[in-house]
Amino acid sequence: MKLINLVFLLGLLWTPDSVTCQRTYNLFQFVQAWILTFCEKYSGCFPNLAPNFTLHGLWPATRTGNSVLNCGTSRRDYNIGHETMALAVPLASAWPSIIISRKDKQLWQCEWDKHGTCCLFRMTKMDYFLSVIRERNKMDLLSILSNANIVPHSDVSYTKLDFENALT
Ligand SMILES: *[C@@H]1O[C@H](CO)[C@@H](O)[C@H](O)[C@H]1NC(C)=O
Repeated sequence: MKLINLVFLLGLLWTPDSVTCQRTYNLFQFVQAWILTFCEKYSGCFPNLAPNFTLHGLWPATRTGNSVLNCGTSRRDYNIGHETMALAVPLASAWPSIIISRKDKQLWQCEWDKHGTCCLFRMTKMDYFLSVIRERNKMDLLSILSNANIVPHSDVSYTKLDFENALT
């Protein structure tokens, strides 16, 4: 038992990601989910949510689209208390949790831990959260797609190229 704990602890302490991610993060993915589909998969959504996209997160990724993950190296890297308190109002509107049992702040903390910490060598926590708010306010994905005649439909489907054309 002790040995297993020790091995696990060594695994945690040895964090090659924090070194390599600085070379491998080339782009951001601004990840949004279609609420109705999301809520079919995960139970416990708030009732009567508008059919729209919800923001999942802002993910640093490599050129090939792989996320770089969990880059924090200290408790201080991972603590988002102060930054999210200062931005709580705009963040709650840009990036709300749609799951009843998960508070907004828990969503931001999880996303920060997993993705945001990998941006720390290029921006502060405050910059990261401000970027999320700015991008969200800039991009109304539902309108962009419906302007390109891509709308939810039970028997019409769209290709990846249709989406690419609408977004570029
Ligand atoms: C969909 O969400 C975007 C981003 O929050 C918002 O700007 C837009 O007004 C929403 N549209 C509808 C129809 O709810």
